[in-house]
Formats: sequence, C-alpha cells, structure tokens
Amino acid sequence: MPLAVPEPSRQGAPAWEDDDLQLALWCCYELHYRGFEDVDDGWQWHPAVTGFRGTLERRWLASLRALAGGPGPVPADGLPGALRELTGRGGGPDLAGYLAREAGREQFAEFAVHRSVYQLKEADPHSFGIPRLDGAVKAALVEIQADEYGGGQAERMHAELFRATMRWLGLDGRYGYYVPAVPAVTLAVSNLMSLFGLHRRWTGALLGHLAALEMTSTAPSRLYSAGARRLGAGPPARRYFDEHVEADAVHEQIAVHDLCGGYAAARPGATADILFGAACCLALDDALAGHLLSCWRAGRSSLRPPGQAQSAA
Ligand SMILES: [Fe+2]
Ligand SMILES: [Fe+2]
Repeated sequence: MPLAVPEPSRQGAPAWEDDDLQLALWCCYELHYRGFEDVDDGWQWHPAVTGFRGTLERRWLASLRALAGGPGPVPADGLPGALRELTGRGGGPDLAGYLAREAGREQFAEFAVHRSVYQLKEADPHSFGIPRLDGAVKAALVEIQADEYGGGQAERMHAELFRATMRWLGLDGRYGYYVPAVPAVTLAVSNLMSLFGLHRRWTGALLGHLAALEMTSTAPSRLYSAGARRLGAGPPARRYFDEHVEADAVHEQIAVHDLCGGYAAARPGATADILFGAACCLALDDALAGHLLSCWRAGRSSLRPPGQAQSAA
C-alpha cells in the first residue's frame, strides 16, 4: 500500500519549516539509525518507505537549493579559501552571544533540547561517509570521527558529554526523547545530515557539511561554556562545550585540507557539492538560531506546546 505523502502543512512554507515533512523524513531516516521499538526492522529497506522518502526528498532538496543558493564550482586548490569565505561571512543571528550573556536557565535548557536531536547521535551521519572514501581522505574522516566517539572511551564520546550537560539542566537524556517537542527547523538540521549521509551521490556535500560544522564550532562553543558557567554549571556540565573549543580547532584543519581538499583533488568536479553541503549547514543553523531568538525575544518558548513531548524512539 503506498504511503500518503503529506501536503505542505503550511501554505507556501519552505520544507525546513514544514512540520509534517520534517517529521516524516526524520522517521524514515531513523530506520537507518536506531529504529523504533515497535517498528519491524524490515521496514528499513521496504520499497514503500524508500519510495515515500524519495518523494519527500525531492521537495526537501528543491527547498535546500533555494535556501543555500548554488555555490558554483571552484578549482580544487581554491576550495579551502572558498570554504573560509563561506563560513567567515557571519551576520547570522547571534545565538551564542545571547546564551553567553542573557539567557536564563530555562532558555539554556530549551537550547539543549533542540540540540539533543542531533547531539545524542553526534557524528553518526558523517560516519556513513567512511566506506565511500579511500586512502588519506578516508584516514582524515576517521581521525575526526575517532575523536567524536571519544577515542575508544565511552565516557568521552561527545554524545555522552552532551548527556552530562542535559543532566545538569534536569533534562531527559534518552535518545530521541525530545523529537516530538521540537519544530520542523530543528528536525531539518538533523535531516540534512541524514540526507547527505545516506545517499552516496551526496558524499561531497556530506564532507562540506562536516567542514562547515567544524569551522564554525570553536568560537560559539566558548560562548556556550561561558553561558553555562554564568548559570552555575560545573566543569562536568561544561565539558561538552570546552571539549569542542579544543577539538574543533584541530578538526577544522583536518576537515578543510585533508578531507575536503583531498577529496576535491581527486574529484575536481565535486567542489560545488562540497560548497553546497557547507552552505546548507550554515543556512539551517542560522534558521534555527533565528527561530530561538525570535521566540525568546517575543517572550515565548521555542518548543512545541507542553504535552506533545512524548518519547519518540
Ligand atoms: Fe563533537
Ligand atoms: Fe569536531
């Protein structure tokens, strides 16, 4: 039986603001991660699901192209500079500054709820890229991912460090718990990585996305840590942010030169995809930051109304 494709739930709304579309995509993608307790594992590759997902992804990709523009190809040796130009533009909503200086504990907790959708599976989408790479480029991705996964120590995994921050805030750290509590744009941030990770055709965009994440992490992480300290967080609760100040300064160099630079050197035609992935990452991060700040400045929660936050996975 074919699955019904949702009509746009808000007339004219872009895909990253469409709650039904993003939740449907998240459910389809989740079948490739941890799945659902009450859903048979056989649905992962069921033709009805993959066909349904493909229809959703066509709308999703068209919307992403409109959002990110189409960064043109650049010569492979110009890629690091093009990535720096893209990530250095700035001008987006200053969420990190707000969290450092103004946010109350409740708003900081909301921020963590939004982030938990991805951070509790941090690094997993980009790991789908590993078997698609060779040689030095593969080694570069593994080097970054090994750090993200704690270098073999479970308590140092970034997802676990984030769970400690959630505990400090009195939040539920179960995987997927807050998915029903967040709006479309939060799911879109996670769904973007899944889109690029699950399609081999988008490997270049996946690497560009990772580079943009790493290149824009150090300065905000320092501010998130400052905000948490202002609100009384001790070192264990701040460790997630402090770790990213240190680690991502290194990851940035690896991602730009060894990973994206190496990938483009072997495939000069891939630079447009790499830049597209980076541009999508930055644009959706700005959209999410804008959502949080506009809600808080209007004196309301950035989450869905209470009562809808039930366990999803
Ligand atoms: Fe990390
Ligand atoms: Fe990193």
